[in-house]
Formats: sequence, structure tokens, C-alpha cells
Amino acid sequence: MKDVEIARNVSWIGVNDRTTDLFEGVWPIHDVGVTYNSYLIVDRKKAVIDLSKAMKTDEYLGQIGRSVPIQDIDYLILNHMEPDHTGVLKTLRAVSPRATILGTPKLVAMLKSWYGITENVREVADGESLELEERTLRFFHAPFVHWPETMVTYEEKDGILFSCDAFGGYGAFRGAIFDDQCPDKEFYLRESLRYYANIVAKFSSNVLRAIDKLSGLSIRVVAPSHGLVWRKEPGLIVELYRRWAGYASGAPEKGVTLVYGSMYGNTEKMMNAVAQGISSTGVELEIFDVARAHPSYVLPSLWTRAGVMIGAPTYETNLFPPMEYVLHLCGLKKIHSRRYAMFGSYGWSGGAFKHTAENVEPLHWQLDGSFEFVGAPSDEDLAKGEEFGRAFATGIKEMH
Ligand code: FEO
Repeated sequence: MKDVEIARNVSWIGVNDRTTDLFEGVWPIHDVGVTYNSYLIVDRKKAVIDLSKAMKTDEYLGQIGRSVPIQDIDYLILNHMEPDHTGVLKTLRAVSPRATILGTPKLVAMLKSWYGITENVREVADGESLELEERTLRFFHAPFVHWPETMVTYEEKDGILFSCDAFGGYGAFRGAIFDDQCPDKEFYLRESLRYYANIVAKFSSNVLRAIDKLSGLSIRVVAPSHGLVWRKEPGLIVELYRRWAGYASGAPEKGVTLVYGSMYGNTEKMMNAVAQGISSTGVELEIFDVARAHPSYVLPSLWTRAGVMIGAPTYETNLFPPMEYVLHLCGLKKIHSRRYAMFGSYGWSGGAFKHTAENVEPLHWQLDGSFEFVGAPSDEDLAKGEEFGRAFATGIKEMH
């Protein structure tokens, strides 16, 4: 994809990735893609801000070379060390050895261990400025958004915030790179939430800290390293990130995520009865079969909704394994302080409830009720299940 000017002499020079199957080797993006946004500022001093994953290297270097001889680059500003933003670094360094690499002290240490690069590298202090001539950049350390070494770069003249992972999202470009040019903004917002729940959620307190730290800046363009460049509504993605980060400390939306698994259809039968009860209250409900839905898609619902209804059979006196994996990820992503209820079938002895309780104990989830049935649910069981769902959802609806 060819370079795009976002301000005079400031261009997007990134890579549009539609071939990677799994982001971080975990999260499916085969159907939506992702971008590695990189930016070039051509001033008396020339700077590249964030790079790209090691793919389409020729295309990436060509993007730079169209605007300026690559050997003339003065600075490589690395907001983040993760290889989706630095994969081309060794190649770029070989082509352009005089370019000084700038980053936080932690990034400088990481450069050595990841790439063996120690020469012509400079640490930047929190709040430090760099004059290119017409344009001035300022660096703000933003640790753990997403790794310990992360920072953001602010361009003062046009108020452009190069925020790297912060305010980013999945989704390859469909031609347009700007929020005001893209007819399917909802797609990018949905994929931003999925990206948040998959990648950023664990670091929500750091996200809030970074947003507060940047609140004094006049930000007119948010230029992250994944997804849309926000020039019409830069405040929209910042406020969404603030809202999503706030869900970490409570006050998520009054909705229910129903996660279930079923070996022979009995827990599924009960799931339908429970879902009828939930939906009769008007509370928003999303349902996932955890054996089939990738957790990448389940996590956004769990992140944003206050209620979790778990339907899982006992599996060899334990919890249905795909459910255990989802709960493990809830721990990893710090999905805390939800209300939950549980139902499920067992064949000869239970066990799923006990193991679920063990899994959610560190998450500080509040149990609102549970019931088990043996084998196939009777009509009486199903009626009980519907009422069980209704009561749980009513409790969510009436939460303060
Ligand atoms: Fe887009 Fe944390 O790397």
C-alpha cells in the first residue's frame, strides 16, 4: 500500500498485513488482517517513528525510499520494542547505519538482547524534546502500554500523537487510513475492542495513567501503530480506551455473557432454557460455545459485561477443558469482579462446579447461584433453568 500524507511532510509508510493468521501467535486475524503503521517525518532532520514486522521488507523500505534516500534518515524512533514494530530493524540498520535509534532506557536494554544492537542508540528521558527544525517531537514514557519499555511520541506543530499500541486495533486497511474516509468505522471499533481485550486489557491501569499524563496535550490526530489514523474524531478512540480501561476496576455494562460447552447436547439444551430466561428480562446477552468460538472473540464480551453465566458439564470429574481455558484467560487478562452463575450436566459424579469455583476465586467473582442435573434435563429441570436465567439477569439489571 503506497504512502499517505497525514500532514505536510509527515506520511504514513506502514504495512497492510492480510496474511498473518495469528497475532502474537495466539489471536486470529486471518479474516480481518492488521496494519503495522510506521510514519516518516521529512524535515531538516528526518525521522521514522515505529517500523514494521519483518515482512514485506522491500515494500516497506520502498515506502521510505520514495520520499527520502534511506541512508539520509537521522532518527529511528522506537516507541515499543515488540517485533511487530521492529522486525525490519536489523535490515534498516544495515541499510541506514548512521540513523540514531531513540527509545526509553528499557528499550535500549532490550535492543541488545533482541537484536544485539548497541551502537548509535540513545535513551530519551520522559518529556524530552527533539527538534527536527520546523517540527519538534516530545517523548512521553508510557510503561506497560503495552510492554515496560513503551513510550509515545507527540508532534507539536500539528498535534499528532504517535501512540503505538495505545488506541490501536486489529483490521487491515480497506483503502482508507483515516477515520473520516472509512465507510465502515464500526468494523474498526469492533476490532479495536477485540484488540483491547486480547492485548491491552491486562494493562488497563497503565492505560488510564497514560491518558491522564497526556491530557494536557492538544491532540488533533491520533496516529497509532495498528489500525485507523484518527484525525476527525481523535477523542473518540481515546475515550473508548478510557471507558474500556475503566472496566478493569468495575462498572462494566449491564449485560450477560453466556459461555457454555456441551458434550452430548444436554448442557446445550439447558443453555437454551437459561437463555430464554435471561432474554425475557431485556438484558443484553451474548452466547458463545467455548469449544468452537475462539477466546479472542469471547474476551471482549466478558470484558465489557457485568454478568457471566457459565454452562459446562463435568468432564472426568473436572471442568469441561475449553471452559477452563477461557477462565484461565480471564485470570491472565484480569477480568475481575464480575457476577456469575453456573449450570451443567454430569454423568455419575459432579466436579465442574468445584473446579470452576477454584478457577474464579482469584478473580473475585461473586457467585449468584448454581444448579446441576444428571444426564439429560427433564422438563422440570428446563423450567428451573429458565427461571434461573431470569433471576440472574434481573440481578444484573438491578445492579447499582
Ligand atoms: Fe503492536 Fe505490543 O505490539
